[in-house]
Amino acid sequence: MEIIIRPDPAATSEMAARIVARLVRDDRRAVLGLATGKTPLRLYAELARMHRDEDLDFSRVTTFNLDEYVGLPPEHPSSYHSFMTEHLFRHINIGPARVHVPDGMADDIPACCSRYERYIRESEGIDLQILGIGRQGHIGFNEPSSSLASRTRIKTLTETTRSDSVEEFGGVEHVPRHVITMGIGTIMDSGMCLLLAFGKEKATAVAQTVEGPVSAMVPASALQMHEHCTVLVDEEAASELRLADYYRHVFKQKPEWQRP
Ligand code: PGA
Repeated sequence: MEIIIRPDPAATSEMAARIVARLVRDDRRAVLGLATGKTPLRLYAELARMHRDEDLDFSRVTTFNLDEYVGLPPEHPSSYHSFMTEHLFRHINIGPARVHVPDGMADDIPACCSRYERYIRESEGIDLQILGIGRQGHIGFNEPSSSLASRTRIKTLTETTRSDSVEEFGGVEHVPRHVITMGIGTIMDSGMCLLLAFGKEKATAVAQTVEGPVSAMVPASALQMHEHCTVLVDEEAASELRLADYYRHVFKQKPEWQRP
């Protein structure tokens, strides 16, 4: 794993945006895996700015979102469909046919999940998967005890995750209990993973992910087995990393051509 520590969320997000933009410039047909939540907001704002000011072209980019709430129609203000439209898609020139978010209203959820996996395969796989992390170490909505080989499927949220979503829903009683999420196996098939985390409340999950044992109890720790995973965190999220000084040293030694 490559661990990069930046001073704050703004600097972290700018670096993440440079990594995504480089891929999109090198390969206009890039397939991006996208995350929702507070963490990628600045990254998406920066990508929108790059589209506006620097002609970053998304017209041939394909996207797959990690997850969606079961029972929320796309137009629901708290759905991840709405989130993505609001924070990214309406600000860039991406074609609606190239955008994929799991269908939380599907009658046949297993069939909908298999279809999602098939669409990813037919797009020749995700080149770069953006990830946030939950306080209990989830990626996507793969909660602790998720199979590390799992594929897209329905999951039941932990109460910790539901309580972390109260703001979006205006009361814990409105937070759905079920979601459709890419599995850990789906995420691990991506060409590159870029995990972002900010703030002290993520510090334990980040330390367990990077320095703990690989365990289904911390689903993000599966990323230790990924060939090309960058963990991009701010100082607060890095505050429990035992080898933080080493990671800083490694980054300083990076030759200029390798720097994001
Ligand atoms: P957050 O959520 O970005 O809102 O902190 C991250 C996650 O739950 O994966």
